[in-house]
Amino acid sequence: MIKIVTVIGARPQIIKAAALSRAIANGFADRITEIIVHTGQHYDENMSQVFFDELGIPKPDYNLGVGSGQHGVQTARMIQGIEEILSKEKPDMLILYGDTNSTLAGAVAASKMHVPIAHIEAGLRSFNKSMPEEINRIMCDHASTLLFSPTATGFANLLREGFNASARPPFTIDNPKIYHCGDVMYDNSLHFAELAEQKSRILEGLGHETGNYLLSTIHRDNNTDIPERLNAIFEALDGISRRRQLQVVLPLHPRTSGLLSQNLSQELYASVNENHLIRIIPPVSFLDMTRLEKNARLILTDSGGVQKEAYFFEKPCVIARSETEWTEITAAGAGILADADTARLLQALEQFLDHPPVNFPAVFGDGRAAEFICSEIINLQAISA
Ligand code: UD1
Ligand code: UDP
Repeated sequence: MIKIVTVIGARPQIIKAAALSRAIANGFADRITEIIVHTGQHYDENMSQVFFDELGIPKPDYNLGVGSGQHGVQTARMIQGIEEILSKEKPDMLILYGDTNSTLAGAVAASKMHVPIAHIEAGLRSFNKSMPEEINRIMCDHASTLLFSPTATGFANLLREGFNASARPPFTIDNPKIYHCGDVMYDNSLHFAELAEQKSRILEGLGHETGNYLLSTIHRDNNTDIPERLNAIFEALDGISRRRQLQVVLPLHPRTSGLLSQNLSQELYASVNENHLIRIIPPVSFLDMTRLEKNARLILTDSGGVQKEAYFFEKPCVIARSETEWTEITAAGAGILADADTARLLQALEQFLDHPPVNFPAVFGDGRAAEFICSEIINLQAISA
């Protein structure tokens, strides 16, 4: 039996972990035991618990309860907690997802304790090191033994950084193995799409049966914390809804909702508040989000996960960032980078409203990435045994 410890903490990691836990339960339970550590980075009911309830993820074995804080304080507390758990559990491998501070903490703790790391969502790069996520993902990749890249671009990024596609076993932190294996988020979207239509009542609740709305999420720190950028994005949302009489549904991350009144100009804040076409709602569950995405006319976001889900459901996506790690989406013409620039955002939204993209090549795998990852974890153990 292989013992893995999975570290999760932020909303998208909880969601991604559902795919692996499901694959283990359905085909590998006799060979893999999973211990789940929740760092507590996200803790509101609608940022954490709701996903466990809805997606069938096993209850965490440990919750470090770290909560919010400065990067250093938050990450240090996580490292300390994870180190203690690794000492006690002595797992064969640590599983990390994505690029959050929880990912970085897991990478630091495990690499110093010589616990091999499998990094799921390896190789993604924005080439913008002012993003905390870019630092986190580079550090994690370079401390990992198995690197699972969801896309060809991610795989190529790893090659460019010196990873060797022809590495031979035994694989170690000094001789890592890289894979291009598809995206566990695609596994999830395929798995939950039908269930979302059956179970979610979000559209009825919002009075949106027609599906003629713009879905938006904004939470990236450089968009929420820099007033000019937040104003530019909300200027575009307010503008497009009024100009095209288009409803906007905005499930808002607590980081953003906490800063709206402070960082929007008084005039814009008032305009958004009195615009009955804009519905700002608290974060929604994954099934509600999936149904909102599937039925939207188009999507405006700065989220990595939401960009991809827009693509999975063949929706046009305007990206409120200057670059994306998911370059396959922009290359296909299904996403437009419009930064936090009102004119560019409006132009991109208008373009997609009038001429929706039709080209969505299958670049995120076959919906079985999690099964592949489980098989490779087992293979590595067999080789090293
Ligand atoms: C984090 C990740 C980001 C990821 C995002 C997913 C890092 C550096 N960033 O950003 O890559 O895209 O999660 O959503 O790890 N808050 C609450 N309740 C919660 C969680 C957060 O109110 O349950 C508020 C707090 O004010 C907190 C702020 O949101 O200070 C930011 O939370 P934090 O986890 O530090 O970063 P995110 O912006 O969520
Ligand atoms: N999501 C959700 N409810 C929401 C907003 C997002 O379930 O109100 C899901 C979304 O469907 C995707 C994931 O959260 O699976 C994306 O996480 P987020 O945007 O917080 O982070 P990122 O992907 O940018 O790291």
